Amino acid sequence: MLIRHRRGFEIPEPRVTPEGLALGRRSFAAGTAALGLMTGAAYADAPPSLTPDPRFPPGRALTPEKDAETYNNYYEFSDDKDLWEDAKILPLRPWAIAVDGMVAKPQTFAVDDILSKMPQEERIYRHRCVEAWAMTVPWTGFPLRTLLAAVDPLGSAKYVVFQTASLPKFMPGLAQPWYPWPYIEALAIDEAENDLAFLATGLYGKPLPPQNGGPIRLVVPWKYGFKSAKALVRITLSDKRPAVFWQSIQPREYGFWANVNPAVAHPRWSQASERLLGSNERVPTQIYNGYGAFVASLYAGRMAEPLFM
Ligand code: MTE
Repeated sequence: MLIRHRRGFEIPEPRVTPEGLALGRRSFAAGTAALGLMTGAAYADAPPSLTPDPRFPPGRALTPEKDAETYNNYYEFSDDKDLWEDAKILPLRPWAIAVDGMVAKPQTFAVDDILSKMPQEERIYRHRCVEAWAMTVPWTGFPLRTLLAAVDPLGSAKYVVFQTASLPKFMPGLAQPWYPWPYIEALAIDEAENDLAFLATGLYGKPLPPQNGGPIRLVVPWKYGFKSAKALVRITLSDKRPAVFWQSIQPREYGFWANVNPAVAHPRWSQASERLLGSNERVPTQIYNGYGAFVASLYAGRMAEPLFM
């Protein structure tokens, strides 16, 4: 251990469970509709109404919105899960995201330009935290590769590095010097260009709330949730694998690849099952969080790497 302070990840089971919340089942259109693509219109208050992408059936009841938005991991604010009210202070506008590094056309995008220019779609994804809780939520956004295509990656780029906002005025957690701020995560470029890798700007048909990573966050549903960095301010293409947040803190427990696998236990707890936010039901965990058909081929040439921690 590099540090002696308690961290949330040192508690395998969350201590606080929202009580009295009925398992709500948000109705969503049956998968008969075509791919919900919509181009154009920026939204200031609410994202456009979209039909969930039928290629990714959730396979589970949707998590009640209140549970997904009041039980969060966001260490810039707190080590505890009930930070949602504190996170409301984060100003989500103006907001810009720089996309740079090994690209032919580096650019800084205002988030409102992204909303108006990128085709928005809705995807219901399962999210699996390394702590063994899970949720199933409708994100609005667009594939990461659409943004990458806009900056024209160089052939030599191997990794895509994600940097989260670091705003000490609003984020009290940044005062904890034992964490290696800013929160950095990364994907290999072929992972980043996989169709599942998503940039979310909305949740439950509304703008992405600050506690869930607003105004724009990464969503990588086949990996443990810590890969899905919130409140992105910079995306940098590089030929070097960067030091990433949780791996730098505890490399024996949190790896670079972090693909979900029920058969590979965390050193301090089993990953065989997961607790669904809202119902507290425990269900078996699936390899690649059930998205193997889309992503398993990414790892065929990487079997020597620690893919599942
Ligand atoms: N991004 C930042 N910037 N800071 C964080 O602490 N926590 C990660 C990930 N992204 C985190 C982050 C972890 S551990 C998880 S499980 C998810 O965000 C939680 O996302 P949620 O709060 O929207 O459920």
